[in-house]
Amino acid sequence: MASQIPEELVEEIRKANDIVDVIGEYVQLKKQGRNYFGLCPFHGEKTPSFSVTQDKQIFHCFGCGKGGNVVTFLMEIEGFNFTQAIHFLADKSGHVLPKEMQTSSRQEQTQESQDVLSANEWLTKLYHHLLRHSKDGKEAYQYLVDRGFTDESIDTFQLGFAPNSKDFTAQFLEKKGFHPQQMVKAGLLSAKEDQQVTDRFRGRVMFPIRSHLGKTVAFGGRALNGQEPKYLNSPESELFRKGTMLYNFDLARPHIRREQEVILFEGYVDVISAYNAGIQNGVATLGTSITEAQAKLLRRYVDQIIICYDGDQAGLHASYKAARLLKQVGCVVKVAHLTNDLDPDEFIQTYGADRFRNEIIKASDTYPSFMMRYIKKDYNLKLEGDRIQYVEKVLDEIALIEKPIEREHYLKELANEFSLSMDTLSLEIESRLQKLGNKQDKGYQKRHTNTIKSKRDATGKLLPAYHNAEKQLLTYMMADESIARKVLEELGGNFNVEKHKVIVTYLYAFYEEGNAPNVSHFVEQLPDAELQSYVVELALMPTRPDISDREISDYIKIIRTEQSDHVLIKSLRDEQKLAEQQSDPLKAAEIAMKILEIQKQIRS
Ligand code: CTP
Ligand code: MN
Repeated sequence: MASQIPEELVEEIRKANDIVDVIGEYVQLKKQGRNYFGLCPFHGEKTPSFSVTQDKQIFHCFGCGKGGNVVTFLMEIEGFNFTQAIHFLADKSGHVLPKEMQTSSRQEQTQESQDVLSANEWLTKLYHHLLRHSKDGKEAYQYLVDRGFTDESIDTFQLGFAPNSKDFTAQFLEKKGFHPQQMVKAGLLSAKEDQQVTDRFRGRVMFPIRSHLGKTVAFGGRALNGQEPKYLNSPESELFRKGTMLYNFDLARPHIRREQEVILFEGYVDVISAYNAGIQNGVATLGTSITEAQAKLLRRYVDQIIICYDGDQAGLHASYKAARLLKQVGCVVKVAHLTNDLDPDEFIQTYGADRFRNEIIKASDTYPSFMMRYIKKDYNLKLEGDRIQYVEKVLDEIALIEKPIEREHYLKELANEFSLSMDTLSLEIESRLQKLGNKQDKGYQKRHTNTIKSKRDATGKLLPAYHNAEKQLLTYMMADESIARKVLEELGGNFNVEKHKVIVTYLYAFYEEGNAPNVSHFVEQLPDAELQSYVVELALMPTRPDISDREISDYIKIIRTEQSDHVLIKSLRDEQKLAEQQSDPLKAAEIAMKILEIQKQIRS
């Protein structure tokens, strides 16, 4: 593969970055036997079919078929090219790449997004400096201090101040050589009708919004003195897509992993406020409701999520929507219970960090408790009619709980609250479960037949013998160079399946270059992702270390037979065509019979 980084260095960097650690930053992996398993980040799923094999330093998803090594994983998930992926890993393992190589990788990003990132970086530093050290920024700094922001958090989140000027930022960016129209497009400046550019953020406290890689991709600016709008954000752009990113995900990620839990807020102020209160695993959507993409992203990292939205009606409703969505993607959901219309930040300012942690976060409602609270808002429980309707609704929810013990728990709660007998409530639940059961059974059957079908495909039971022989043989050839040499002598590149032909060609070349067997290294030589995934799948097929020469020869024989038959069939078909052209139906039919016979033999 063309790269300016020497092969040995690439290999060294790859060795220094264990695939389990790297993928572990994106997927919650659990060890099972010798492999690690998790939810595939490349396709939506609720049960893990994504595996990482530490011995071989490869990953593979049995669901969607993607697979490869640590480098191809990063290319896929980050959209890196090969060189960018190596740079990323080098950074992680502390390898310093020679200067020329650093610039060469940068050039491969589009010039435009590179410029915008660079402008964002400059402005982050500039605004932060102004807030911390300039006279202009004093008022904004004091505003933050009054709101309980510590210096440490101001530095950690690189908060800043954009001066109240019509062209301070515009001039700064121009001096740095950035193209004004490009800066307008990136939402850092505004354009007037006469094309003149002016500052977009004026007299605002600036919150840099960082990507998951820690780079500023947008800003949120909060007004200081009641100007409208209160919050002004950068517009959406190629770099900044609100619906797919989460504020503070880069800093929160290690804490999320450690605590096996994430706290979801509505905005950046709450995240930082919670940070000041000692909560570091908080992230936020940016003033919009959580999307499916964000829910799935979180699901990949953790099982448990605590929704901590405003305590008003809007917050309650948003919590409900978020809880449903997160539950749907398979999270264990809890919902914090703020009252008196307070938002998390206000609660912390009013009652302090300890009470926030203990009375709000630790005491969050489980999903069913939250649902009961949510349903309650629509009823006046002083009225008997409302009470009955409410109980019915809650029973519907309780019936959806999977664990019998949990169901019992909530039934008791309900029985106590409304002085109802457990017997009656249990009967009600039974009838609901039966109705649900019918539906679920159908779903189960459907799933079940699906797995049977795909299993057959995966184990290749329905594939012709030569196809399986080729797959087996390739697996052995990748693990053992001497087997590859034997096959080279006896078969060369004459595999029947087109894909296999390509793979052996690359494999022979790989050994010829003096490489030792190494699947992770080998897949990198392959020209496309589909082939890479396929090879990884092959490499995961079981092999026996004591396979005999005889067995290898048998595989070769099967492949050869198919070949001669193929050749024969092909020439017979030509003859058949000729006979048809010569209007000799009898002869054509005879040949057709012959072909059928050969095909039957192949299949048996
Ligand atoms: N937000 C945003 N864009 C908006 C409005 C809000 O990104 N146009 C985000 C901000 O991150 C903000 C959060 O949503 O922190 C909550 O918004 P809101 O409830 O309107 O803010 P307040 O809590 O009232 O703001 P403050 O505490 O600063 O008065
Ligand atoms: Mn607030």
